[in-house]
Amino acid sequence: MRRKLGIRPEVPRPLDPPYSARVDLCQAVVDGSWTTLRVVRTATRAQVTLAREWAPELDFADYAHGFQVDQVPCDDPAVLGDAAARAWLSERGAGESLAELLASMEQGRHEMVLMLCSASTGVSVIHHVHSSALGANNGFHAIRAGGLRRHEPETNEDEILRDGLNLSRAMSFKCAAAGLPFGGSKTIARCAPFSLDDGARLGFLAYAIDRGHLITGPDMGFPPELIDVLGDAYTQHILCGPGGPLGHTGAPTAYGVLCAMRAAAEHVWGKRGLESRTVAVQGLGAVGLELAKLLAGDRAKLVVSDRAPERVARAQHEVGGIRVVSPEQILQAECDVFAPCAVGGILDPASIQRLQAAIVMGSANNQLAAASPEDEIALARQLAERGILFAPDWSYTMGGILAGFEEYVYRELASSERLRTSIERAAGTELARLLSEARASGRTPTEVAYDRFWPLVHPE
Ligand code: PHE
Repeated sequence: MRRKLGIRPEVPRPLDPPYSARVDLCQAVVDGSWTTLRVVRTATRAQVTLAREWAPELDFADYAHGFQVDQVPCDDPAVLGDAAARAWLSERGAGESLAELLASMEQGRHEMVLMLCSASTGVSVIHHVHSSALGANNGFHAIRAGGLRRHEPETNEDEILRDGLNLSRAMSFKCAAAGLPFGGSKTIARCAPFSLDDGARLGFLAYAIDRGHLITGPDMGFPPELIDVLGDAYTQHILCGPGGPLGHTGAPTAYGVLCAMRAAAEHVWGKRGLESRTVAVQGLGAVGLELAKLLAGDRAKLVVSDRAPERVARAQHEVGGIRVVSPEQILQAECDVFAPCAVGGILDPASIQRLQAAIVMGSANNQLAAASPEDEIALARQLAERGILFAPDWSYTMGGILAGFEEYVYRELASSERLRTSIERAAGTELARLLSEARASGRTPTEVAYDRFWPLVHPE
């Protein structure tokens, strides 16, 4: 393993008391010289624990070299159990934040939130775990899976938690739909961008990942190269960097969306293929751009948009023959297929009325502005009433996680042919089956998909 040199980070100063009316959970953890906040929920109770698991001055640049995940040096460990931890947090003004988190976990039926907060590096890592049911006892270290995302330190904590909880719920169902023996999680690092030779921050991130009993891979906010650096020198639980055997997850994810679109096109128009169909691609990031290329290969007509002019320029250069519209116009562009490939939450009652497409299918996670299956079904019905075909994104955006699984199990022997076959099966064949079942039973694909996968994700 390569040894990376650590750069000593400046230590951010904790806020001085008196505390503002509402204190973030992470802030309370750091202010109290704790390192870890864990909330575990079962059907009957929620349990909160605060712990000090490492010394404040610990140099995480030594992680995976000087010490391993269960050997973290701590001269002064401490733990507060449920009642004491709750009391401590409310005394510090974080009671309201905790109550909100517990309510959201209850609503989404989430199993655990694990916050690891490093004061010395200014990095907090939050593992949002929805369900581990499918991964329990799978024989691997990792029993769940979900991407690694970064949010700026200024982002509100409740916004981060909402994002993470929603995304992890989608991951549970995505793994189920992909036929993988993993539960669903999402890991969010709250920190400023840092350089790829920053040993202390890399080491801390790797430690946090290893603590989560999960595999993770590229998502938004970090450069893809971070995956390779972490994977080469710090942890085996991060996969699908651009230098890995299968490359970045952008291409397999886009391929899954293409398979799904082909299945949807046949379902709606009774004719194979996307030739001459107009597809509006919202967002030209790692997946959107790949999808645009694949669609051009299928001879679809493309309308695209992105907030970043350089991404639009790149797409014009690499794809060619595309029509560019503003980010405000893309949602109501005249098209056959609308493909959301940027942020989630874009489909709400107002935007659904503006859509001009027959099919909505794209790579964005959580396309519906909803936080529970019940709310999703209500929006899915509105789409159906407008005659628009919609299936939950998690039922066909599993190209990335299938690639992650392939690399996790086979390492250098990971095979792109095997990956291709599993994507075609899950995002193509299985999705087509889902759409037919929905049509036959007069329900939305969203309801059929939840009915099918619910018992796997929530067995009890
Ligand atoms: N980020 C991927 C998703 O949202 C999941 C993933 C996890 C991919 C681990 C690769 C490795 O679907």
